[in-house]
Formats: sequence, structure tokens, C-alpha cells
Amino acid sequence: MRILAIETSCDETAIALLEIKGGLNNLKLKVKKSVVASQIKLHAKYGGVVPNLAKREHIKNLPILLGRVAGGKSQIERIDLIAVTVGPGLEPALWTGIQFAKELAKKWKKPLVGASHLDGHLYSFLLSSRAKNYKELLPSITLIVSGGHTILAELKNLKSYKKLGETCDDAIGESFDKVARLLNLPYPGGPALEKLAKKGNPQAIPFPSPMISQQNYDFSYSGLKTSVLYYLKNLGSGVANFSISKKEKKVLKDIESQQNMQADIAASFQRAAFNVLIKKSIRAAQEFDARAITIGGGVAANKMLPRMIEMDLKKLGLKIKVIVPPLKYCMDNAVMIGLAAYVSRLRKKSYKLRADGNLNI
Ligand code: KG4
Ligand code: ZN
Repeated sequence: MRILAIETSCDETAIALLEIKGGLNNLKLKVKKSVVASQIKLHAKYGGVVPNLAKREHIKNLPILLGRVAGGKSQIERIDLIAVTVGPGLEPALWTGIQFAKELAKKWKKPLVGASHLDGHLYSFLLSSRAKNYKELLPSITLIVSGGHTILAELKNLKSYKKLGETCDDAIGESFDKVARLLNLPYPGGPALEKLAKKGNPQAIPFPSPMISQQNYDFSYSGLKTSVLYYLKNLGSGVANFSISKKEKKVLKDIESQQNMQADIAASFQRAAFNVLIKKSIRAAQEFDARAITIGGGVAANKMLPRMIEMDLKKLGLKIKVIVPPLKYCMDNAVMIGLAAYVSRLRKKSYKLRADGNLNI
């Protein structure tokens, strides 16, 4: 089956054309085309996504991307289904994609289905080359870690998943973005913070890992961000105030120690943020006899997360695989939306064709 998928839930406009077959037991996916127009530069000035600007950009980008993906009449005739993200996300942005998809479906006389952005992140591990024999990875424990969500779920088989827990306040990606802003790093904060953290000592500052000892599968990230804020405030009149130093040598030394300190904060924050994810996903994997821990969403782009989970699994002597999608499918894209739509159809799960900003799994 050929699916044309459209994604406009946040600040990436994305369209993909994919060929999927085999059903739930022998699923095979080929990406024919996948294009993403990122609005990062536009929103960076504001330090976050501005919904109406995002909407305006989606309206501008959608026809351009469609021209690059759809091809000529014969290509269009071969499309069996159009899929569009209906939530969760920014409603003005979602509506743009839905409206565009509706008009397209009418013009091309094709069936149209709604898809969940979270299903997209959840199933995106199937796009990893290590998931070719995906049945050997199931049941799995899945982490959806993005700018809007932090969810832990059990995936029994492709047909059924169950949410085990989620964040009570901020999403982990959001906390990366907020802490990055405190450290004067550019938006989006995640990649910049990961880069800085590589130069720092993760044990330097004992930031808390909230809810780590609670025997549930929930998370909390707003307190950790506040701890970083207070830590920086306490430093305020100390090392950070290097610019008033008169002697050049001292200034240089202070700059160096300021940079080291920033890297230590980034590394210590990252460690504290990931510790809870690691502990709870491993505990869930043991409880549910999982054969893999899969990760999806923007924060899955962080190389340290799978590495730290693998290290802990090794220490515990557990033979559980850790699967992450290729980098381009960690971030928002339309391939995962086509995939989610295909799986949803086979699960007989349908989503209404209206924007639902708070759609959950
Ligand atoms: O999945 P995504 O592209 O959009 C949402 O559905 O939210 O995720 C974006 C989030 C942002 O918060 C961004 O800072 C975070 O993913 N992110 C990262 C990294 N790359 C992106 N967080 C930590 N480390 C990274 N390397
Ligand atoms: Zn996303």
C-alpha cells in the first residue's frame, strides 16, 4: 500500500511517500520520499515555537513540499491512502495540515485517515535497521521522549500497547530547552546541551532525579529545571561575574572556569534527567519481561541516553536490546505518520479528522 503522509503538529512541515506491506506480522516499509521543512531558525529568535507563525509557515511550505514528493499523474494514481497528523500538538498548526489533506483527498479522490503523532514516535523504532526482525524485540518497553511528552509504555505486540506512566509536569525535551536557555544556549536546547555536556563532569553537581525512588512509572521534570535555576542564581556573584576583572590573565582564567562550570552543569543536569528514565524503563522491562527498550521522539536523538541504558543493562547482566530510530526519524517527520496510520488501520483504531491538541495514547 502506498501512503502519502502529512505532519504539521509543531514546527516542522513534513510530507512523505511510503510503501508498506505485510500486515502486522511481516511489516515491510520502504521510504520513497521524505521531506521536512524546519522552522527552527524562525522560532529561535523567540526562544520557542510561536503557534501562529508556525501555522503561516505550514501554509507556505505544504504545497512546495507536496510538489517535491507527489510527482506526476501516474505517481499520484498509485497512492492508496493519505494520512495526516490530528494530534497532539499546536491546534492552529494541526488544522493547517488537516485542511490541506482534506482538500488533497477530495481533489485526488483518495481515502484520508487521521494519525496520532505519539503513535508515530512509538512505532518509529521499526525504522531502525536493527528492527528488521522486530518480532524478536517484542514485548518491548517504549519511551516516548520529546518536547511535549515523556511517556513510558509497554508494547506487547504491534497491535496493543499500554501506557504505564508519564510526566506529571514538564516534558523532558521541554526541560532540556529551558535549562539550555538558562545556560544561554541556542534554541532548540537539546542538541546544544548534549554537545556542551560532553565536555563536562556528570558527577560534578548532585542535581536531583525527581520521583526516581517512587515505585510507579511516572516522571517529573519541573523541579530539576528549578534546581538548575537556583544553582545558577547562587553562583551569580561568583565565577559568573568574570567581565569586571581587571587583569587579563585572571579574566582568561575566569572565562575558562566559567566554560568548565557551564559544561559541568549541562552534564550533571543531563545525568539527573536521564537517570529516572533509565531506572524506570529497566524496572518496567524486568517487570514485563521485555526483550527490548525502544526510544522515540526528539530526545532519542541524544546519543547518551541509549548508551547509559545499555551500560546499566550490562551492569545488571540483562540481555535486553536498546533500539533507537535513525536520527532523522527521531525528530518530527512524516514517515512515522504514514507508518502509524498503517498500523492503526490494522489495529482497527481510527482517529477523528479534527485537531486534538491534547490527544494522548
Ligand atoms: O519529537 P520532537 O522533534 O518534537 C516534539 O514532538 O516535541 O522533539 C523536540 C524536542 C525538543 O525539546 C528538543 O530540545 C529535544 O527534542 N531534543 C533533544 C536532542 N535533540 C532534540 N534533547 C536532548 N538531546 C538531544 N540531542
Ligand atoms: Zn514529535
